[in-house]
Amino acid sequence: MSSERITILIPGRIHPRVRARLTERFDLVEIDSADAVVALTEETRSGVRGAAVSGRFPASLIEALPHLQVIGSFGVGYDGVDVKAAAARGIVVTNTPDVLNDEVADTTIALLLNTLRQFPAAESYLRAGRWAAEGPFPLSPMSLKGRRIGIHGLGRIGLEIAERLVPFKVDISYHTRSPRSDVSFAYHDSLLGLARAVDTLISIVPATPQTKGSINAEVLEALGPDGVLINVGRGSTIDQPALIRALQDGTIAAAGLDVYADEPQVPDDLIALKNVSLLPHVASASVPTRNAMADLVANNLIAWFDSGKALTPVPE
Ligand code: DGY
Repeated sequence: MSSERITILIPGRIHPRVRARLTERFDLVEIDSADAVVALTEETRSGVRGAAVSGRFPASLIEALPHLQVIGSFGVGYDGVDVKAAAARGIVVTNTPDVLNDEVADTTIALLLNTLRQFPAAESYLRAGRWAAEGPFPLSPMSLKGRRIGIHGLGRIGLEIAERLVPFKVDISYHTRSPRSDVSFAYHDSLLGLARAVDTLISIVPATPQTKGSINAEVLEALGPDGVLINVGRGSTIDQPALIRALQDGTIAAAGLDVYADEPQVPDDLIALKNVSLLPHVASASVPTRNAMADLVANNLIAWFDSGKALTPVPE
């Protein structure tokens, strides 16, 4: 390992283990947010060779760091990082794939069951003393058995979700840009086609210009009045106002969401609805999984500066 000290910038909040791991090897410069880079001296900015980020890393920050070589992004989704601006400067961006697949897939099954069977509302009912006072919690109108489930995005996490669903006696189909040769689930070549064929849509796609707003009023309508939408990918992939309307007027029956269009803001109209199960973007949020993600951020930066090769670079 080279003994040269290298400066790493951390713009904003980061998992403490990333900081602890990086401190062993690098000098750290921490600022409150990407925008706070303006407060750094030119000498400090010029010394920054790498960055570790959980969230926004815009082009303006890339421009402010003339010798930046690598950005380690925390999370499998890296939509907060301006990858185009990084690639234009030859800067490598890394993410944390695979180490969170099981956790996110497990959360998806829990969120699906919560949405169908209303377990969070049932627990609130018990805790509020209503069981004894008012009688049994109302029967949930929906059940998982026999559902026709469509998975929007059969990547590594989508496949884990599909495999977990098999023993639940549901019908599984999927849509991705091209069919996978290693699965026997039915393939639909469009999201709308998938939505027409199923009553439950699970979305696990990244935020890209192609996926932005792709779950729109037409897709929701295709799911039908018994339809359920689960989103564990990115909030921007849904037309959120259209979803709220669809839930309000019964175009679909229910939704389970871990992600939102403008996090951490969640519209009051959504919170007011009873036919939604809402989580605060916690699909990967267990201590072991977040530690593994933190280690992968640090290991990517260390590998880059040791060997010039990152472990998990994202495509340009
Ligand atoms: C990710 O890693 O992108 C997930 O959204 C974190 O839960």
